[in-house]
Amino acid sequence: MFNRLCIIGVGLIGGSIAKAVRQQNLCKSIVGYGRQQDLKNLQAAKHLAVIDEYYLNAEQALGNADCVVIATPVGAIGDIFALLKPFWSKSVVYTDVGSTKGNVVAAAKRIFAAVPDNLVLTHPIAGAEQSGVEACTADLFLNKRLIVTPVANTNPETVQKVQRFWEQLGSVVSLMSVGRHDSVLAATSHLPHILAFSLVNMLGHKDEHNDIFKYAAGGFRDFTRIASSDPTMWRDICSANKNEIIPLIQQLKEELDNIQQTLKNDNNQQLFETFSYARNARQRFLDQFENPMSKSLTFTIQPGGKLQGEARVPGDKSISHRSIMLGSLTEGVTHVKGFLEAEDALATLQAFRDMGVEIEGPVNGELTIHGVGKHGLKAPKNDLYLGNSGTSMRLLSGLLAGQSFNSVLTGDTSLSGRPMKRVTEPLAAMGANIKATAQGTAPLHITGTAGRLTGIDYAMPMASAQVKSCLLLAGMYAQGVTSVTEPAPTRDHTERMLSGFAYPVKKQGNKVSISAEGILKAVDIDVPGDISSAAFFLVGASIAPGSDLLLKHVGINPTRTGVIDILRLMGANIKVLNERIVGGEPVADLHVLHSALKGIDIPEALVPLAIDEFPVLFVAAACAEGQTRLSGAEELRVKESDRIQVMAEGLQVVGIKAQPTRDGMIIQGGSIGGGIVTSHGDHRIAMAFSIAGLRAAAPITILDCENVNTSFPEFKDLVKQLGLDLVCETC
Ligand code: S3P
Repeated sequence: MFNRLCIIGVGLIGGSIAKAVRQQNLCKSIVGYGRQQDLKNLQAAKHLAVIDEYYLNAEQALGNADCVVIATPVGAIGDIFALLKPFWSKSVVYTDVGSTKGNVVAAAKRIFAAVPDNLVLTHPIAGAEQSGVEACTADLFLNKRLIVTPVANTNPETVQKVQRFWEQLGSVVSLMSVGRHDSVLAATSHLPHILAFSLVNMLGHKDEHNDIFKYAAGGFRDFTRIASSDPTMWRDICSANKNEIIPLIQQLKEELDNIQQTLKNDNNQQLFETFSYARNARQRFLDQFENPMSKSLTFTIQPGGKLQGEARVPGDKSISHRSIMLGSLTEGVTHVKGFLEAEDALATLQAFRDMGVEIEGPVNGELTIHGVGKHGLKAPKNDLYLGNSGTSMRLLSGLLAGQSFNSVLTGDTSLSGRPMKRVTEPLAAMGANIKATAQGTAPLHITGTAGRLTGIDYAMPMASAQVKSCLLLAGMYAQGVTSVTEPAPTRDHTERMLSGFAYPVKKQGNKVSISAEGILKAVDIDVPGDISSAAFFLVGASIAPGSDLLLKHVGINPTRTGVIDILRLMGANIKVLNERIVGGEPVADLHVLHSALKGIDIPEALVPLAIDEFPVLFVAAACAEGQTRLSGAEELRVKESDRIQVMAEGLQVVGIKAQPTRDGMIIQGGSIGGGIVTSHGDHRIAMAFSIAGLRAAAPITILDCENVNTSFPEFKDLVKQLGLDLVCETC
C-alpha cells in the first residue's frame, strides 16, 4: 500500500502497527522517529526488527515517507504537528492513533489553521496494560474495533485508504464523529480507568495497605488490572477529554451515594434490584456486543478446489420468518418442517415467544406453533431484540402497529443503522404511532393503536417485499382496504402464505390488497431450501473447473429465481429438474456443471428477483471473461452492509478491477489473487468471498464472519464437504 511508513513514537501501538504492517507486507520499509530520550527504545525496536531504521531528526525520518502514523501519547500531539508542519506534504497520508479526538482536532487547527485534508484521525480500540516496544504484537488489532473520525474537509479517498490500511491489519472499522467518539470513549474507557486508579490509590494510602493487597482476591485483580496502565498516557487522555469525563464522575458519585443510602436504610430489596439490574445489563451487553467480537470468526480459504456431490441447503429464510408470524396468528396448531434454524429466523421465533405464543422446537427443523389467533398476542415484558434481521423488524413493525399493546423493537449495530422510514412513513399514513431515531432508524417505539389503523392505497417507491409485507400485516388490523402497488415484482411469500392460511388477499397485476376481514386457519408448512443460500453453490460450481453439483429441494418461486437467469445469461450450465409444488411453493433440484462465464449487462428487471444474490454474483463476474455491469441496484447499499462498497473494496483487495457506482458496479473479469478482506459483519459478503477462493491464486482470509450464522450456520461444513478448503478460526 505504501513505500515508506514513518512511525512517530514506536511504543506498544506504534510498534504493533509496524509488526502487523510487515506481516501483511503493506510497505517496503518502516522507519521510526523519536526524541533523544527515546533512543534506547528506538534501538530496541531496530534490534527486534520492528522497524528497519530510526531517526532522531524529523526531516530524515520523514524523507520519502508516503504514510506517517503518529503514535505518541495524546498530550504530545500539538508538538508533533508543529514538528511536522515544515515538512507537511499533500501527497503523504497522515494518521494518528490517539484515544481522544477533540484535542487532536483543536491542536491541528492551532498549528495548521484548519485540519489538513490528508490527516485522517483514527483510534484503534486495542491495547494492553503493558507499554513499550517489547510488548508489541502483530495481532494487537486483529478483530478489534477501530474508529475513524473524519472531519468535514477530510478527503474521502484518504479516509478510504486509511480504512483499508486498518482492515488489512485485521481491524473492524467504523466511522464516527469526533464528538460522539469522545463521549462514548469517556464512558467506556476513560471513566473505568479513573475508577481503577482511584480505588488502588484509596486502598494504597490506607495504613494497613500491606494486608489489603496481600489478601486481595480475583475481584480486586480483575477490577484494577487497568490501573497498571501507563500514567503519562492516562494523564494526557483524561486531561484532553475532561469535559466529557467530569459530568460522568458526577453521575457515578450519585450512584455511589444511592448505594450508600440503600445500605444505611437496610433496604436489601433495593440493593438486590440494583445489583440484578447491573448483572442483567452486563449480560445483555455481552450477548449483543462482546461475545460476537471476542468470538469473532475468521475464514481462511486455500486456493482452488471444485464443488462435487449432492447437497440440501437449509430452509428459506423469508418463508421461515413468515411461518412463525402467520402460524402464531392462526386459530389452531401449525406444524412446520424445514424451518431455518439460524439466528435471524430464531430472533423472530423468540419475539413471538416473548408475546406469549407457545412454540415447540425447533428440533431438526421441525416446529409446532400453538396459534393464539389474530388478536391473541400479549404485551412483551421487555424490548424485542431482533439481532441482525431486517425482515423481522420491518414485518413486525406493521404487525405490532395494529395491536392493543406497546412494544419496542431493537437490533444489533448493523440493523440499528438500516433505514426504517420506508416502513414507518406509510404506517404513519395509516395512523400508526411509531417513534424512531432522528435518522429514522431503530429502536422503534411502537404505541399500539388497538386496530384503529386506516387502510391506504400505497405506491411503493422502491421494490421491497419487506415494505409490502409490513403494510399487508398492518392491513389485517386496519379499517377498510390496504393496497400496495409495487414498482417491480418482489418476493410474494407473504401473499402466498396468507392465502395458504385461508386469509383473503387480492392480487391484481402489481397491486395486492388486504383488509381486516378474515381469520387465519392453521396449515402445515414444508419450507423449501433457500435459493439465496443455494446461490453460493450455483456460482461456486459454475466458476470452479471440474465441478458437478446437485442441489436438492430448492425453492424456485419465480420472484426469487433471478440468480439462475443471470448466471444462465453469463453462460452457466444450470438444469432445473424434478419441478414440483410443495405447500404452495414451486420446488426443484438444481444441477450445475462448471462452465466458462462471460461478462454481461445485467437486465435491471432481474435485480429485485436476485436482490440478495449480488455479493456472490459479483464473484461470478470477477471470474467471467470481459465486463459485467450492474445498475438499478441502489437497494444493495442499505442491506446488512453497503454491499456495493464492501464488495468492490474486497474485490479490489484480491486484485479485481471493480468500480462501485451509485446504483451498481462495473466489474472487469480477471484473476483473483489472495489477501485479507472483511465481511463488515455481513453474512452474504463472508460467504461470497469464501466462494471466490475456488478461483483464487493465493489464500483469502475473511474477517468478521460470525454473522454467517444469521442465515446459514451449516455453510462452512457443507462447503468443505463439497470441496472447498475452508478453515474457520475463532479469535
Ligand atoms: C426479504 C426481502 C428482501 C430481502 C431480504 C428478505 C423478505 O428485502 O433482501 O433478505 O423476506 O421479505 P427488501 O424487501 O428490502 O428488498
